[in-house]
Amino acid sequence: MDKNTHWFKDAVFYEVYVRAYQDSNGDGHGDLLGLVEKLDYLQDLGVDCLWLMPIFPSPLLDDGYDVADFRGIHPDFGNLDDFKLLIAEAHKRSIRIITDMVMNHTSDQHPWFQEARKDKNSRYRDYYVWSDTDEKFSEARIIFLDTEKSNWTWDDQAQQFYWHRFYSSQPDLNYDNPEVQQEMLDIMKFWLDMGIDGFRVDAIPYLYEREGTNGENLPETHEYLKQVRAFFDQHAPEGILLSEANQWPEDVRAYFGDGDEMHMAFHFPVMPRIFMALKRQDGTPIRQILERTPPIPMNNQWCTFLRNHDELTLEMVTEEERHWMWEQYAPELRMRLNLGIRRRLAPLLGNNKAKILLANSLLFTLPGSPILYYGDEIGMGDNIWLDDRNGVRTPMQWEDSPNAGFSAAQQTYAPVIAEPPFSYQSVNVASQQADPNSLYHHIKSMIANRKNERVFGWGELVWAQNDRPEQVLAYYRQFADELVLIVNNLSEAAQTTRIELVEGMLTPALIDLLTQQTCTPTSGFVELTLPPYSYLWLKPVQPG
Ligand code: NOJ
Repeated sequence: MDKNTHWFKDAVFYEVYVRAYQDSNGDGHGDLLGLVEKLDYLQDLGVDCLWLMPIFPSPLLDDGYDVADFRGIHPDFGNLDDFKLLIAEAHKRSIRIITDMVMNHTSDQHPWFQEARKDKNSRYRDYYVWSDTDEKFSEARIIFLDTEKSNWTWDDQAQQFYWHRFYSSQPDLNYDNPEVQQEMLDIMKFWLDMGIDGFRVDAIPYLYEREGTNGENLPETHEYLKQVRAFFDQHAPEGILLSEANQWPEDVRAYFGDGDEMHMAFHFPVMPRIFMALKRQDGTPIRQILERTPPIPMNNQWCTFLRNHDELTLEMVTEEERHWMWEQYAPELRMRLNLGIRRRLAPLLGNNKAKILLANSLLFTLPGSPILYYGDEIGMGDNIWLDDRNGVRTPMQWEDSPNAGFSAAQQTYAPVIAEPPFSYQSVNVASQQADPNSLYHHIKSMIANRKNERVFGWGELVWAQNDRPEQVLAYYRQFADELVLIVNNLSEAAQTTRIELVEGMLTPALIDLLTQQTCTPTSGFVELTLPPYSYLWLKPVQPG
């Protein structure tokens, strides 16, 4: 299989909120040129691909996921020349760039919608989904439960209702209209021609609406996505489409098609189960969901993550599990949003360094390409007093100078976190770079080690038999004759466990890739004592 075309299979991704990252012109908003200044940092961390949240012109009622012009750059972030420079500078450092492509909807400020609502006979009217009643498609759920009462909103100017799966300021596009289908391809081509390496395709389960269905994962959606992929293969054979489909494994599996649909898909269900497993000190939820996950074609890859710019979504758990997760991880109501939890990784895990690293050990060793959320590599905190999901989108903390070195402005787009224990004076990149034992250095080392071993991107997962199956989640990652044994102690107590070794591990010694310490197998087993919340990445040492 061609390594270049399949670069995403063993890439480490990093999600950037451009507004939060680095402000180059002192206006209080991070921008593309600021991000260019930080590419050396990202290269040094070991990142292969950046995912930029939407950078298009937008009224920002959903932080850019409400696009007003698909071919421009929001003035806060710079302009198209800055974007071209970013791509060129990133590529020089072997970093690829993908950005969000919001296919399902536009902003109500988009000229298409403005024309559509004005005039029933406009060619743009049929770009959206209209109705004289608000009773159609009643089986479709409401996603932004805390703010929206219906997926239909009455438009005075149009004298009809329009359909929207998200905020009412985000009318859904009508994919039954071939012109809409073509527009999206043209827009993608516009960015691909500029050198972008692909897209994170937002909200794809909802492209079509059909009466009597819940309007998710419809066959029509898959048909269209296959066309998008064919177009992509023709125009950008090394580009990727990363699907955002917050669905159960068997439904997400469909987005890979026969390897002819999306290249990658987020594995949403595994994420909350990592948090469940850590709290319960029991790996069963992770094991069960991976056992329920169908195999995927060789030319596809899962994307795994711990946190992102949204609430920690609890859609892919049972109702009982959701309530348990809320009780455990979001005891204050302000920490909850829709069906999720709006907190960052470090505060969720009680700022316990061992636990944060253990969560990352899972992220970097379970099947899929990992995505880090900006700031989680240093354990940034959140600000639950900000509205919507803004509490997890605060400025990146670079150093202990004013505004955390993020901006020279008097006022930044959102306050920098200044309260202990997550204040920028104590949690910042500079201080962690100076401390060899920091979160940053451990994560950097995990990235580097992961990238040395093909098993992580290309290999199978095989459970390792051991006598502490709940507390200790142990698995092999295996690719051809290469093997790594991952052992995670999920418990707050030290655990001694005996792990059965498979052929290939029966060497005189096993070495932990992260610490270089060795252990010795005896008669087909290895006996290990793991401190609380610790992990080993063991590789067989061949004699000689
Ligand atoms: C998913 C994005 O992650 C989220 O931030 C956004 O609000 C919705 N899609 C709507 O575009």
